[in-house]
Amino acid sequence: MFGWFSSKKSTKTEEPIAKKVENFVDPSTVLRKFTAITGIHFNQKESITTSKLINFCRNHHITSFDELSRCFDHEPDILEALINLLTVNETYFFRESRQIYFLCAKAVEKNENIRILCAPGSTGEEPYSIAIALLDAGISPLKIEIVSVDINSDVITLAKEGHYSIRSLHKTPPPLQEKYFTKVDDTFQIRDEVKRLVSFHTLNIFDDALFGLGKFDTVFSRNMLIYFDEATVIRAVERLGRLARDRDSLFFFGHADFVKTPPSLVEHYEQGVKFYKVS
Ligand SMILES: C[S@@+](CC[C@H](N)C(=O)[O-])C[C@H]1O[C@@H](n2cnc3c(N)ncnc32)[C@H](O)[C@@H]1O
Repeated sequence: MFGWFSSKKSTKTEEPIAKKVENFVDPSTVLRKFTAITGIHFNQKESITTSKLINFCRNHHITSFDELSRCFDHEPDILEALINLLTVNETYFFRESRQIYFLCAKAVEKNENIRILCAPGSTGEEPYSIAIALLDAGISPLKIEIVSVDINSDVITLAKEGHYSIRSLHKTPPPLQEKYFTKVDDTFQIRDEVKRLVSFHTLNIFDDALFGLGKFDTVFSRNMLIYFDEATVIRAVERLGRLARDRDSLFFFGHADFVKTPPSLVEHYEQGVKFYKVS
């Protein structure tokens, strides 16, 4: 009797009472839900995504993909952190710059106020490049307004800071580096005259807050659609198309963004530059 009592007591102290068991089996439900929110499509065979998800869960004391998926509904901070982890934010100044210079030539020709949307603008290199190019083409700063949005809140913070390494400027002509950046040690700070032309907002283009941004003369949406499946590309383009101020509004996409032209836009070429207008 004595023996029975002591062995039961020792079992109780060995087993932690509230230890939760991890259950990371199949990420497909959580990824489907993430895709439905963001548009970003995953190749589910990519084990790198699964291992990122598992690490993420462990860091947030989440023990299963089902639990993570449920968090999306009532824990916006968890969703935000996951978006910040899984989005690909690669960008640099004067990327695909022919489109930027083409826009400048049109802006000089028109010499009117110009309102531009970068959706997405990532860490700010694209919207700041457009601002620099317009200023350098002689457009008055009073005529320029650029709005830059991105679903990733971390990149918006960095964009607002406007502090870059030389890697981001490898395609920036040296005279523009000198004129529009202040060199601080090995880094480059965007000057205030450029900064004040651009506003940055954390925004998912599939949220209706998109339509609160108003109408635009030009929309840049480069290198985001590549992460969407075909149906989502069409939905995204239709939504962006609704932001056109009028039928002259210009749309620029990245060269890898479309397999075929989406139905709500008409493709145009001028001076070797591809752009779109609403149909
Ligand atoms: C590769 S970067 C492209 C940045 C820039 N346009 C360029 O071409 O250099 C793609 C950006 O799309 C953003 N993104 C992805 N899905 C989005 C969504 N649903 N709404 C807004 N931004 C999104 C990502 O956070 C990422 O910063």
